[in-house]
Amino acid sequence: MPGVEHRIYRVTPSGHPARLLQITDTHLGERPGTPLLGVDTDRSLRAVLEQSLAAHTGLDALLATGDLADHGSLPAYRRLREYLDPTGVPHFWLPGNHDDRALMASVDPAGELMVNDLRLGRWQVILLDSQVPGEIGGQLGEAQLDLLRRALEAGGREDLHALICLHHHPVPIGCDWLDQQQVSDADALFALLAGFPLARALLWGHVHQPLDRDYRRLRLLATPSTCVQFAPGSPNFQADTLPPGYRWLHLYDDGRLETAVERVHGVHFSVDLQQKGYL
Ligand SMILES: [Fe+2]
Repeated sequence: MPGVEHRIYRVTPSGHPARLLQITDTHLGERPGTPLLGVDTDRSLRAVLEQSLAAHTGLDALLATGDLADHGSLPAYRRLREYLDPTGVPHFWLPGNHDDRALMASVDPAGELMVNDLRLGRWQVILLDSQVPGEIGGQLGEAQLDLLRRALEAGGREDLHALICLHHHPVPIGCDWLDQQQVSDADALFALLAGFPLARALLWGHVHQPLDRDYRRLRLLATPSTCVQFAPGSPNFQADTLPPGYRWLHLYDDGRLETAVERVHGVHFSVDLQQKGYL
């Protein structure tokens, strides 16, 4: 089993609570303005960033939870840096099924984007890789689960609360077509987390729709895409007309977590609802 290097990165929160922004499933094409189901994913990401950063000041970190490029292309990752670097907010990436991990890493020569244990005051944000190369569905596998255990053990020695991030959903969300893609070894994930009472929440992307649910004392959170949305409760692939969105999170020293999803307003995006897939 190849071990995954435990890479800690420390950010000192500018205040209390620590403030995070999550964007996910940006699906940037190789060329700017490439449409996904009729939506210009560069334009929708720019709208999300403009409105979220105006609404949320004092951010300590921005999390980008996978499917950052639509086809794992290097120009897409370069553009994402060009969009995010000027915000001045430290940003951290993990891969989704549409991504190419090596190309993501190639735009991160300093090794600052793809760390897997972000330390933020009394919290650690653990960023996992649920990608299975060549497959749509997710799996953590022994190496990522071992990384998670080591990170939680290290954080636990400092009494840190933990927010665990990944791309794929570890529980069914009620869309049959998406639920075939959920993390295949989620049972092992939850069994591991049961041994770490300071693990507070799981946060993911992939499903292009929000979720906020309690499960075995964990808070489970999913977040809309910055581009196309998927219709909740749909057995087959179905896009939705809701606008692009993002999630803010406030992490309190006592382990409380406040969070909500917000969507862009005042900008029209025309989604092609007739398409039956997006690969
Ligand atoms: Fe996606």
